[in-house]
Amino acid sequence: MPDINIPEHLAIIMDGNGRWAKNKGLPRVLGHKKGAEVVRDIVKHTSQLGVKYLTLYAFSMENWLRPKKEVSFLMGLLEDYLQKEVVELGKNNVRLVISGRTHLLPEKTANIMDEAISKLADNNGMVLNLAISYGGRSEIVDAAKKMAELAIQGEIELSKIERDEFGQFMYNPEIPDIDLLIRTSGEIRISNFMLWRVAYSELYFTDCLWPDFDEKIIDNAFIEYSKRERRFGMTDEQLADDNG
Ligand code: FPP
Repeated sequence: MPDINIPEHLAIIMDGNGRWAKNKGLPRVLGHKKGAEVVRDIVKHTSQLGVKYLTLYAFSMENWLRPKKEVSFLMGLLEDYLQKEVVELGKNNVRLVISGRTHLLPEKTANIMDEAISKLADNNGMVLNLAISYGGRSEIVDAAKKMAELAIQGEIELSKIERDEFGQFMYNPEIPDIDLLIRTSGEIRISNFMLWRVAYSELYFTDCLWPDFDEKIIDNAFIEYSKRERRFGMTDEQLADDNG
């Protein structure tokens, strides 16, 4: 794709698995199953295009409230994905990290996750950041608690904490802000996703349900992203000065 600006950090809210299944008269969980297959293709495609960080909203804090059977199915899918895909992820030089309250995960899922993380730890290609047991507000609350703890112990001075310093308490703080956020299924909202890192993201919404999502939609989103002027609150003139 010539002249295409590839976002350094791409994030996706993968929505519409249930509707996809319902439209086909199938149980909801089969939408998730097909959704996991799409994850495989998209991870490969984005890593080949040169995306440096890919964050996928795989399981939210709110998803814990879904019927028990659906939660277990989703945990099983994650386990399956992490076990079966680790070789392919390795071939694509992908490193894996997880963002979320992982202490809430079943022990088996957590162990499989840790194993995959360590197997891929030495890779230096795209970072795949799976948001699991994740909530944007929970992330900020957890960050504030970590910071308060250090302040109580006298290890940091609150007067020196500004935006960048506070950002260091987020999950995986080395991961930069999100450049482009894609949401599928026609819903136009953020749904508690990466609230800290989405501050200046470009947003791209598509009606496509996640199980029907494919590489062409990524390519189109990147073409659209390349046309956007990102000003980060500055004026055109300031941006022109900054660029040279
Ligand atoms: C939203 O669809 C999707 C989820 C809650 C789960 C996302 C999980 C996957 C795509 C598969 C597993 C992930 C990995 C990384 C292997 P929904 O159920 O809310 O759909 P609906 O809004 O149509 O009901």
